[in-house]
Amino acid sequence: MNDARPRGNSLAARDIAALVHPYTNLRTHEKDGPVVVTKGHGVYVRDDSGKDYIEGMAGLWCASLGFDEPRLADAASRQLRELPYYHIFAGKSHEPGIVLAEKLKEIAPVPMSKVFFAGSGSEANDTAIKILWYIANAAGTPKRKKILSREKAYHGVTIAAASLTRLPINQRDFDLPIFPVAYAETPHHYRHALPGESEDAFSTRLAENLEKLILAEDPETIVAMFAEPVMGAGGVIVPPAGYFPKIQAVLRKYGILLVADEVICGFGRTGNMWGTQTYDIKPDIITCAKALSAAYLPISAVMISEQIYAAMQQQSDKIGSFGHGYTYSAHPVPAAVAIETLKIYEERDIVGHVRRVAPRFLKGLKSLDDHPLVGETTGVGLIGGIQLVKDKASKTFFQPSQAVAPLVGKACEVAGLMARALFDNRVAICPPLVIDEAQIDEMFARLRKGLDDGYAAAKAKGLLD
Ligand SMILES: Cc1ncc(COP(=O)(O)O)c(C=O)c1O
Repeated sequence: MNDARPRGNSLAARDIAALVHPYTNLRTHEKDGPVVVTKGHGVYVRDDSGKDYIEGMAGLWCASLGFDEPRLADAASRQLRELPYYHIFAGKSHEPGIVLAEKLKEIAPVPMSKVFFAGSGSEANDTAIKILWYIANAAGTPKRKKILSREKAYHGVTIAAASLTRLPINQRDFDLPIFPVAYAETPHHYRHALPGESEDAFSTRLAENLEKLILAEDPETIVAMFAEPVMGAGGVIVPPAGYFPKIQAVLRKYGILLVADEVICGFGRTGNMWGTQTYDIKPDIITCAKALSAAYLPISAVMISEQIYAAMQQQSDKIGSFGHGYTYSAHPVPAAVAIETLKIYEERDIVGHVRRVAPRFLKGLKSLDDHPLVGETTGVGLIGGIQLVKDKASKTFFQPSQAVAPLVGKACEVAGLMARALFDNRVAICPPLVIDEAQIDEMFARLRKGLDDGYAAAKAKGLLD
């Protein structure tokens, strides 16, 4: 029998013996083994065989400045020597936490009053949920606890955040959602628009359906809606024209707050500093993470409006303390790295760079439309999604069990590109923001090769019959 299972004392064999991998089929992993990454340089990473890949996903949508920025390493090292740790519980503070909060307030897309720090996007969203419940009680409206999310939303994996994340693998057999959540429709025009329906008419229909959902659930029970400006892990779904102003008008009508989850879109990804600016969203709370520190160290933030802060202040005074916080809230080392990251964004005009290279990126993405496996490509700034379909002309989608996107993902890897297979046979591309035009061209050449080879693999498995 030909068993290619990693053996001996290799890193691959040791990985299999010791590690649980997120988002991995744990059984097939034991057979296939890991790709062990050893080094990063620019927009590339290298595996332990010496092979280079263009990191077309910036890791997990996060390594905005690529993989070898010395200024971030220096910022971390300076802070580690000065004050490697201190907390901000019970009125303690430190300069990196203060400076980073000030900086975020300064660049926020709408006036924000205060900033709370956490370690991950999930923790930031959990914090936002808890704040919403806290202020509902402060306002004497304890019934207002339900939250609106959307089908295919991704807001993280901690228990509360994963209750909003509406993807089958994140909820199935984890007994989620754990509290009342109502899910609005996915704003995916290609998949869900009626024949001949314009983007604007589709957005109007979704806003009307949102209002129906709110009325059916009872508006007096709903505190807020969470939304990613561009839905990321749900497939890189770019909102249709007019979508956010229309749904936000409905939310306002019923006094429902809006939380913008900027964990992927924040810090330039869509060609503006914030996704909320690209889509004319006026949020009450913003959560962000990932590119906040260019992914060099974990840190996330929750920005809150003055109205929300005032309610928190009142409630904390009534109870005696705001009883929420993480050991590593505003950890000084990731905070120092985030401050340096934001400085680099400014000095190098990263948003301007994204705007300059985005047309090349979007042209490369569009050039894939002629591929037999590609039903739709969609993107904005430096983020793109590709819908794989069984038949383009009749718009026939694969069944969820027909996993073609992972075959394309694997073929891209062989071709020297990290791309990401997502739910519903979509493929994502979201490179470091510092990518240049020649690298963009090379990335799409490798992506086309991945599509060709993925197509051949799908055919060989009988998935196209
Ligand atoms: C939009 C969005 N929100 C939240 C999260 C969760 O972030 P984390 O994995 O840091 O908990 C993610 C992660 O990809 C995300 O894309």
